[in-house]
Amino acid sequence: MDGGRATIAGLVILSQDVHRIFGGVVPELASRAHVRAIGPVVDQALADAGASLEEIEGIAVTAGPGLIGALLVGVGYGKTLAWRLGKPLIGVHHHEGHLFAPTLEDATVAPPFVALLVSGGHTVLLDVPAWGSYRVLGRTRDDAAGEAFDKVGTLLGLGYPAGAEIERLAARGNPDRFRFPRPMLKELQAGGADQFTFSFSGLKTALLRATQASTDLAADCHDLARGFQDAAVEVLAAKTAAAAAQCGYPTVVLAGGVACNRALAAAVRERIGSSTRLAVASPRLNTDNAAMIAAAGAWHLARGDRSGWDLEAYDSRELGG
Ligand code: KG4
Ligand code: ZN
Repeated sequence: MDGGRATIAGLVILSQDVHRIFGGVVPELASRAHVRAIGPVVDQALADAGASLEEIEGIAVTAGPGLIGALLVGVGYGKTLAWRLGKPLIGVHHHEGHLFAPTLEDATVAPPFVALLVSGGHTVLLDVPAWGSYRVLGRTRDDAAGEAFDKVGTLLGLGYPAGAEIERLAARGNPDRFRFPRPMLKELQAGGADQFTFSFSGLKTALLRATQASTDLAADCHDLARGFQDAAVEVLAAKTAAAAAQCGYPTVVLAGGVACNRALAAAVRERIGSSTRLAVASPRLNTDNAAMIAAAGAWHLARGDRSGWDLEAYDSRELGG
């Protein structure tokens, strides 16, 4: 760490296969898997970094939002570690971590920027004038973007999570065969209170109908995936670009698992033009990982923020709220 700037010394990402087997996250199983894995994962990250626990300057841990059982495991472990080592403890908001992900690969990425945070649990458009200062411009009123990708994946008979597979299928799909609705795009043009609000449940229902009408899903799945992705991407990109223009910032950040989607990044890039910079981390740092939490924690550590021993995990809380 250098003045709050983080670089990766060791990073271990453990995907829980159990979720793939059940086609989604089963909270109880997720908590148990966290209990089993957290010690060995921390040990391995330290070994990869060639560092000892005593050399660590501070302990950053995700405090929320998310599945409370899994969060409690991390917060309990982080507190114990920090207390035992006599090091500062910093509880990090999961979304703030996602926003820091691009800084791990490019130290020049910094506010002010507009950020589109698109993950399995959240879809939020943020105005970020400075680190630590977050204003919600809009969010989804129902499903998150990643959740829509995953549910459409289920309709198409794909595994979980399905985002990357849908992107792969869509790349070979015919863009003209299925034209699905662009939810809440009219509101952007109207410019009212809901101009930056998203909604994906209607799009999912449109897909359900189209899959029910299909007589050969295996043959149609590329075109269906393409139709769905085009609709979702158009709305996300149009609102992000409009927010960037309204705020007049030089940078747009795409963050969260859905930011791995290259069609989304390409659409945003095209709409914001060459005078605005697009910052997107590589896929392994866009999907959930500890390095992004450490990066946000390093920034808090450098400015003197500390969490108390009464730090609590929270299942829902708005960033900056
Ligand atoms: O941020 P993340 O790892 O976990 C949450 O905090 O939710 O995001 C996971 C989500 C999943 O819904 C997954 O389907 C989606 O990100 N995702 C993608 C792609 N890669 C992952 N969605 C669209 N295209 C992708 N290439
Ligand atoms: Zn996430």
